[in-house]
Amino acid sequence: MALRQIREIGDACLTRVCKPVKEINKRTLDLIDDLFDTMYDAEGVGLAAPQVGILRRIAVVDTGEDNQESPLVLINPEILEVSGEQTDYEGCLSVPGKVGRVTRPNYAKVKAYDTEMNEYIVEGEGLLARALLHEIEHLDGHMYVEKVNGPLITNEELAEILREQEEE
Ligand code: NI
Repeated sequence: MALRQIREIGDACLTRVCKPVKEINKRTLDLIDDLFDTMYDAEGVGLAAPQVGILRRIAVVDTGEDNQESPLVLINPEILEVSGEQTDYEGCLSVPGKVGRVTRPNYAKVKAYDTEMNEYIVEGEGLLARALLHEIEHLDGHMYVEKVNGPLITNEELAEILREQEEE
């Protein structure tokens, strides 16, 4: 188990198209363990390999929801289907302390491989769909800040907005 350094926006690793995984070896499994450790340590719901400087198509997701077969390891993930729409605040461990409003599909169906290179399908709505799509974008060198409508705000500003909404 090890924590890896999370690359922040501006780092070239976050703008590259990652290479597919062809075989799973000890280094791959160590990387996946480290992605989970690093994600949980930073209290995120997803982390992609390029965020720790490894340009491979691997990401982990754990939304912490009861209804999910989580945690998920996504190797060479592909989006098969999306539908609907949701708009919500979204953040990224590579953009620390900030969130922005992003509109995304409300449903996503994704094909990926597990750590034994068995193909599987995961379907998600709401937060899980958002997390799956967000992480897969990282593997193609894209980040949520490209899709934000409105300014990036701090977590404190978001808390203030949510408080005001409750009072209304
Ligand atoms: Ni991210």
